[in-house]
Amino acid sequence: MATAEKKSLHRSLGPVQLTLLGVGAIIGTGIFVLTAAAAQKAGPGMMWSFAIAGFVCAVAALCYSELAAMVPVSGSAYTYTYAVVGETLAWMVGWALILEYAVAASAVSVGWSGYFMGLLKSLTGFELPAALSAGPGWSLSGPDFSHGIINVPAIVVALSVTLLLMRGTKESATFNAILVAIKVAALTMFVILTIPAINGEHFAPFTPNGWFGPAGTSGLGVVGAAASIFFAYVGFDAVSTAAEETKNPQRNVPIGLIGSLALCTVFYLLVAAGAIGAIGAQPTALGVQPGSAEFAAQCSALLQQGQTPLVCSNEALAHVLRAINYSWAGDLIGLAANLALPSVILMMLYGQTRIFFVMARDGLLPEKLATVHPKWKTPHIVTMITGVFVAIAAALLPVGQLADISNSGTLFAFFMVSLAVLILRVRDPKRVRPFRTPIVWVVAPISALGCVVLFFNLPTEAMLVLPIWGILGLAIYFAYGYRKSHVGRGIVDTHEDDADIPAPPGTLN
Ligand code: ALA
Repeated sequence: MATAEKKSLHRSLGPVQLTLLGVGAIIGTGIFVLTAAAAQKAGPGMMWSFAIAGFVCAVAALCYSELAAMVPVSGSAYTYTYAVVGETLAWMVGWALILEYAVAASAVSVGWSGYFMGLLKSLTGFELPAALSAGPGWSLSGPDFSHGIINVPAIVVALSVTLLLMRGTKESATFNAILVAIKVAALTMFVILTIPAINGEHFAPFTPNGWFGPAGTSGLGVVGAAASIFFAYVGFDAVSTAAEETKNPQRNVPIGLIGSLALCTVFYLLVAAGAIGAIGAQPTALGVQPGSAEFAAQCSALLQQGQTPLVCSNEALAHVLRAINYSWAGDLIGLAANLALPSVILMMLYGQTRIFFVMARDGLLPEKLATVHPKWKTPHIVTMITGVFVAIAAALLPVGQLADISNSGTLFAFFMVSLAVLILRVRDPKRVRPFRTPIVWVVAPISALGCVVLFFNLPTEAMLVLPIWGILGLAIYFAYGYRKSHVGRGIVDTHEDDADIPAPPGTLN
């Protein structure tokens, strides 16, 4: 809090810039790629999934913003929890946020790879062997290498963005606005071309896997797809964390948050309707998870028969356009994805390094990690380490499973933030709140409940990752952070004069 209070504020962002910032961080692999996985889980009913996930994000976003505006220092939910409920839980949240940000960066890298391979094939006819363009399939019984071994393009993009971030990138607000325009133009083109091709029969059956999937399965049906497609909305916290740089945050932060989430929801619903209506969105078989070995085998068999269902595509939106004979538009949307997705990877990696940076500064991780490069002015060591792990995960896991794992961490963090807002209202009702969550006693419990429901509708593997990751995190905390913590050792430090890491991408003038 001392750091926060001494930090000078440059309030320059207005509602439009905030909304653009949000849209820039939100639209990415979720809509461009995971539409296929959502269709495998829910069929045409994925339209409900987009709406449900958008709603949960919106209520979580309102809670997030109250803390973001009140504790305006780097570190997102980790810092908020630290300020409100103490170090051990904060560590757990920070640890879960590694899943959110780093694994999301891996997921978007794999999404980029799918579009890159599609565009390359369409433009030059060249195809990397499957062994080099996809990771293995995973299930509880282990890896299955029959449909892929290592995703080389995903490694390349992840490491390239890491290098960029290590050298220090100043992604300006203007550059962000251009990328937003490219993404929005691509999605608009998709909607304009697919809506006339809609065939009402493609919407039936609407919910082939029901709302919660066939009995005995986990992570399927409309709610299962919502838990996965939740990924498509992650990134709005870019708006909350920019609260300190916002003019009149009480008014503009909710406009930016709800504005960007609403805009994305409308686009996502139109895009989903276009994709379903144009070529159909039925699963390969009922009760089969996308990304599983069984699913990969079913897709191979279908492709051999000359069938190319939406659910099997690695570049869902380009695939739909090609299937309705707009190859040029398929290439254009591929190009848009290739240009715009790296900036989503950048946002996620940046978020991750910022959290590590703050945790190291608090003494919970080795302080060497927070070393700022003398010339580049970036925390280059932690950025490099993060990038290498992101690349490894991107090389070895399919996009849908990465997104699900990322969601498990995000949902935990959002759950904690929803509780933290309420706790702080009780404990410290008089503290100045630049932004107050409206009807907090309704919104925050709905948000917490929504996070719990979505979490328990993730596939079993993704659900298991969180507790295993958590136990590992606690072990590290008690072995290291607990003893080294600055607060624990009575060290009071404020950092407003330190060489800090660069401002968030997309916020600079
Ligand atoms: N929402 C971001 C995406 O869909 C993470 O790629």
